[in-house]
Amino acid sequence: MRKYLVAGNWKMNGSRDSAARLINDIIQGLEPRPEAEVLVCPPFVHLAEVNRLLKGSSVALGAQDVCAENNGAYTGEVSGAMLLDCECRYVIVGHSERRALYGETDPMVARKFMTAQKAGLIPILCVGETLADRERGETHVVVTRQLKAVLDAAGAGAFAQAVVAYEPVWAIGTGHTATPEQAQEVHAFIRSLIRTADVKIGDATRLLYGGSVKAANAAELFRMPDVDGGLVGGASLEAREFLAICAAAG
Ligand code: 13P
Repeated sequence: MRKYLVAGNWKMNGSRDSAARLINDIIQGLEPRPEAEVLVCPPFVHLAEVNRLLKGSSVALGAQDVCAENNGAYTGEVSGAMLLDCECRYVIVGHSERRALYGETDPMVARKFMTAQKAGLIPILCVGETLADRERGETHVVVTRQLKAVLDAAGAGAFAQAVVAYEPVWAIGTGHTATPEQAQEVHAFIRSLIRTADVKIGDATRLLYGGSVKAANAAELFRMPDVDGGLVGGASLEAREFLAICAAAG
């Protein structure tokens, strides 16, 4: 049985005050359930304080990115070891905003994935097509390229300790959520790619959907057989909305 995972990607939002308020409201309102894991991914500068505040709760901590190198002269970068030291358990790699705005390539994302794992973190690998890709009928081609870059470099075994998030670029921050059927179709395809490499691991890998997930659509998405939770952007900044999404898992 795969355990649901509901992850909040706070992106570049908030202040020390608002981050503290948000995590306190989430902790107070959360009803821990064994079938669903809850994760928050604040900006780097808020990780230590959010970690302090969520101590003793069931909420896990993650980061939004990681450097592909281990340590040294990489000004502005943050290593996997530093994230582990802040007690992060997860890290997002290859988010479409990083691919599109900061030039992250498939090989770079694969290196981040492997460096994060070596440091002891669970990578959440983001894949997803643009609207133009979808309209050209190339959703599977793009997702295959993004996933295979990591599968080939890290091996299928690495996915025993990893999560994949399908985030169609056209659904991110647009309010245009993929329909449950659209999400399920791509999730089943992603699972089949991992299963081709290793059946057991493919069956066990958690696949999250991301892109305009909100309280109003979470339950129907999470009901799909290959949707194991969500990677939530905007709606994760509102405690009530995020808690309602968490409650829809399982
Ligand atoms: P939104 O939920 O704001 O569409 O963002 C999704 C996302 O990019 C999560 O990583």
